[in-house]
Amino acid sequence: MNTQELVETARKMVADDKGLLAMDESNPTCNKRFAPLGIPQTVDARRAYRELIVSTPALGECITGAILYDETIRQHTKDGTLFAKAIANAGIIPGIKVDTGAKDLAGHPGEKITEGLDGLRDRLKEYFQMGARFAKWRAVIAVGAGIPSRGCIEANAQALARYAALCQEAGLVPVVEPEVLMAGEHSLDRCGEVTEEVLRTVFIQLHEQRVLLEGMILKPNMVLPGSLCPRQETVDEVADATVRCLLRAVPAAVPGVAFLSGGQSCELASARLNAMNVRFKSRMPWALAFSFARAIQQPALEIWRGEESNVPAAQQALIHRARCNRAARRGEYHAAMEQTSTNIPQLTKTAA
Ligand code: 13P
Repeated sequence: MNTQELVETARKMVADDKGLLAMDESNPTCNKRFAPLGIPQTVDARRAYRELIVSTPALGECITGAILYDETIRQHTKDGTLFAKAIANAGIIPGIKVDTGAKDLAGHPGEKITEGLDGLRDRLKEYFQMGARFAKWRAVIAVGAGIPSRGCIEANAQALARYAALCQEAGLVPVVEPEVLMAGEHSLDRCGEVTEEVLRTVFIQLHEQRVLLEGMILKPNMVLPGSLCPRQETVDEVADATVRCLLRAVPAAVPGVAFLSGGQSCELASARLNAMNVRFKSRMPWALAFSFARAIQQPALEIWRGEESNVPAAQQALIHRARCNRAARRGEYHAAMEQTSTNIPQLTKTAA
């Protein structure tokens, strides 16, 4: 393991007030996003969409790393350049999703375990050779009556830690993503309790598996009220609850925390990240960044709709969201940013 390189890559991933772009939807998830917009659910359409993203002008001004999916990292842009190379040429670090998805956890109705450890060492070697320098693994924790169980939290935390250790052995920075889902009627307080318990358990397991904290990135959910909870707290209340939880559970040695967006609207995701950086930047030991998929991509996807002629407008929408989130890292995002950028239709639409 080259510790120095791992630490350096992790640091770069959250440097300069930039963040990560998740474009690693599995084929079923990508198809699910395409279907309501009438975009063909084909290898070709997925390739064209990913080319639209990576060829967005000036993307590297706001994005340090892009997470690819296995299908995409093997594909080329129209001019024959491998996606990982095209990304690196844009000054962006290529990353790769390496879990194989969340499956039902035996004996635990309503709960999931993320799979993908079998054969992972060899897959990581191949991805490194293809140019990837970081990886992602997402664990999914649902909140509901009697869940999450300890069995679910511990099984997922152990898998995350074993994945992270294998990544570091292979020279890849692990992005450790335990996602407490927003779906449900639960309160913000309940999300805070569950998130804190999950993060504590994850860091115990990371320690047990000898993961170098300086050479990883944490990708958590924000602490939010459930999407069906009647009480929806303000942006500042969400920022306070999220940072309080992280300060209690995330060791200071971790260089960066990069949130997932989890189905929040684009504007709320930016506003909440902004509020955290406005209110707490001087008190936080780690960089507080973003690793959004939907909250960066969704407006662009809705404009593109599979039409070549829509590519420039879609790229404009994509870079707009990337800029909003970079501003949020600096604590300089404000709602007026959504109005002042011209020729970006549908900015008030929420992410699916
Ligand atoms: P969202 O930002 O759409 O939640 O996706 C982030 C991600 O990478 C999920 O694994």
